[in-house]
Amino acid sequence: MMPNPVSTDDRPLPPILLAEFMVDPEKKTVCVYGHLDVQPAKMEDGWDTEPFVLTEKDGKLYGRGSTDDKGPALSWLWVIEAHQQLGIELPVNIKMMFEGMEEYGSDGMFEAIADQAQSGKFLNDVDFFCISDNYWLGKTKPCITYGLRGLAYFELSVQCAEQDLHSGVLGGVVHEAMTDLIHLMASLVEPGTGKILVDGIMEDVDPVTEEERKLYESIEFDLEEMKESCKVKTISDKLLSDDKVSVLMNRWRYPTLSLHGIEGAFSDVGAKTVIPAKSIGKFSMRLVPNQDPDKVEKQTKAYLAKVFEKLGSPNKLKVEMVHSAKAWLSSTTHPNYDAAAKAIERVYGVEPDFTREGGSIPITSAFEDATQMNVLLLPVGACDDMAHSQNEKFNKSNMLNAIKVLGVYLHELGNIKGPKPSKCRCEPLTPEDLAMPGAFARAFNCKCEM
Ligand code: BES
Ligand code: MN
Ligand code: MN
Repeated sequence: MMPNPVSTDDRPLPPILLAEFMVDPEKKTVCVYGHLDVQPAKMEDGWDTEPFVLTEKDGKLYGRGSTDDKGPALSWLWVIEAHQQLGIELPVNIKMMFEGMEEYGSDGMFEAIADQAQSGKFLNDVDFFCISDNYWLGKTKPCITYGLRGLAYFELSVQCAEQDLHSGVLGGVVHEAMTDLIHLMASLVEPGTGKILVDGIMEDVDPVTEEERKLYESIEFDLEEMKESCKVKTISDKLLSDDKVSVLMNRWRYPTLSLHGIEGAFSDVGAKTVIPAKSIGKFSMRLVPNQDPDKVEKQTKAYLAKVFEKLGSPNKLKVEMVHSAKAWLSSTTHPNYDAAAKAIERVYGVEPDFTREGGSIPITSAFEDATQMNVLLLPVGACDDMAHSQNEKFNKSNMLNAIKVLGVYLHELGNIKGPKPSKCRCEPLTPEDLAMPGAFARAFNCKCEM
């Protein structure tokens, strides 16, 4: 157990859990990451079962965190338990890094990873990383994931008075904070298209190449199934686009902006006639490779200041980026990816899809940056698991197959010939090498010939 490096008395944070199952220092070492924290959930949100009581129904395990990410994290432990019970030696050394702040931007993990990557410390001899914390593209076919979007999360507060006011007495008299806030929130994104209206936000987004378009066209993806699994089918049966390629590109390779909520607004049942003194709007943007969260912060603050200025409101405006994460893009050309693909073929009898993801796992690129070892995302949940939503679930069959896939993956890693990538002492990669996705990895195409 490692104390969270940014924990303070005022803001105590959960510790980071480090574990290791070392069989032989000469064997390869894989570090698996998982998170044990979850999004909030209440029965009143509309759950059919108690969110914090794992409940089995029709072959599905319902509960908050079942798929994001306690189920997948536990699956690694079951793999180890299975080896122990069967008396089979682990094929590789296994290290685990489990945290409890992922859903809030992984506070403290960046410091912990940079520290533990130093010579002689926990991460220094790790040869491969594997994260199981995302989803298949559909309900039945497994995939391997080589990209994630980043995130810039903002809070935007407008205050008009020291305390709430009676709208019958002061409506039409004061500049109302909520009116300003709603105007500002609405100015961020165009309804109907989803276009982000923040000036300059598309500047660093890579143009789509012909080759990339072809890749997206070739991906097996059923829009109808997606409408069903994201539960819009019975409501509108419409998405922002009817085109498979643009839906996937909007999920994986373009930035998007979502409005999440307003704190300090009247939100209970009933019809209170208050003018809230201060309301805080929450929104976030998903970022893509080359977009720098600090630049996005500046652009967003400048844009909101401009819109507020035009409004001519005397109220107090505060905009803050509360956390951010860079996007991550790797390449599938690496023995780590080959090992995962072989494991999927062995367990499911199909070749996996290679996907990117629209969601974010903040520490993914931190592992790579700190150690220069390859990171792989090996999802075990299905597209309709409903992470973060009501009735989150993990199919029992996915859980059982997760244990098999993760286990076989470890054995495939054990079969990789050559020296340990973490021992690679080749010349540092040139800027040209580094421009190639995936090539940042030490021991990638190196003379060590893994
Ligand atoms: N497991 C998800 C990431 C994810 C979600 C990947 C959906 C692929 C598809 C992770 O727990 C998560 O929810 N991350 C947050 C990160 C944020 C709070 C910094 C997210 O993506 O909103
Ligand atoms: Mn997760
Ligand atoms: Mn999550």
